Amino acid sequence: MNLEKRVLSNRIPCHIAIILDGNGRWAKKRKLPRTFGHKVGADNLKKTTINCSKLGIKVLSVYAFSTENWNRPKEEVDYLMKLPLELEKSFKGNFKKHDIKVMFSGRRDRFSKENIELLSKIEEKTKERSGLILNICFDYGSYTEMLTATKEICDLYKNDRIKLDDINEELFSSHLYTKDLPKLDLLIRTSGELRISNFLLWQLAYSELYFTKKLWPEFNNKQLLVAIDNYQKRNRTYGGLKEKK
Ligand code: IPE
Ligand code: IPE
Ligand code: MG
Repeated sequence: MNLEKRVLSNRIPCHIAIILDGNGRWAKKRKLPRTFGHKVGADNLKKTTINCSKLGIKVLSVYAFSTENWNRPKEEVDYLMKLPLELEKSFKGNFKKHDIKVMFSGRRDRFSKENIELLSKIEEKTKERSGLILNICFDYGSYTEMLTATKEICDLYKNDRIKLDDINEELFSSHLYTKDLPKLDLLIRTSGELRISNFLLWQLAYSELYFTKKLWPEFNNKQLLVAIDNYQKRNRTYGGLKEKK
């Protein structure tokens, strides 16, 4: 059986997350500017989103800009801030055809006025769509996400809206950006780095992890199938002895 058939005949993960890493190194290898790597990376994000949608994946969360990425040179940050504009073009054509809905997770207060409006516009325009959800984590960091949730919950407690015993996993999850999304099944990180870099720390508690040396611009449909095939061979026992379906 070929790889694609095998993957499609097994359980497809519902929610996949990808740390899109290695754009800079991909460009450097070709003696091109880092920003060119980001351009090819953005194109690959569009392709991968469609590929995931075709496989029947329900949610794709991608790490596109971290709360720490503001520490990069201004020129690179400025380029990376153009990603929503770059993607917007796709939402009209290909993404519309595949009924892809887009949401953004992360802080909004550090973006330009234009970007703040664009993010809302994209979410508003695609919100009725029922296909794959592309969750773009943009100025996203888990520390910020969890601290914000903690403050909101403290506020509810302080105003007698909840009791101490009401604070449980479900309540905490309902204060995260991912509150309306299904549990995360698989995390993929490209470029060979073996770390999480402040991404979805709470949501990853029982996800399967897959690391590949391929740089993000080289991560194609074949690589995606290899990652899912690998995931399908894992035993997900959640602390028990039998696999939980
Ligand atoms: C990932 O590629 C994209 C972002 C972090 C925005 P990098 O820019 O981190 O590429 P490398 O890791 O320097 O190769
Ligand atoms: C993680 O990649 C953030 C994104 C992919 C957006 P980085 O390249 O910024 O991570 P570190 O610095 O290697 O941990
Ligand atoms: Mg990197």
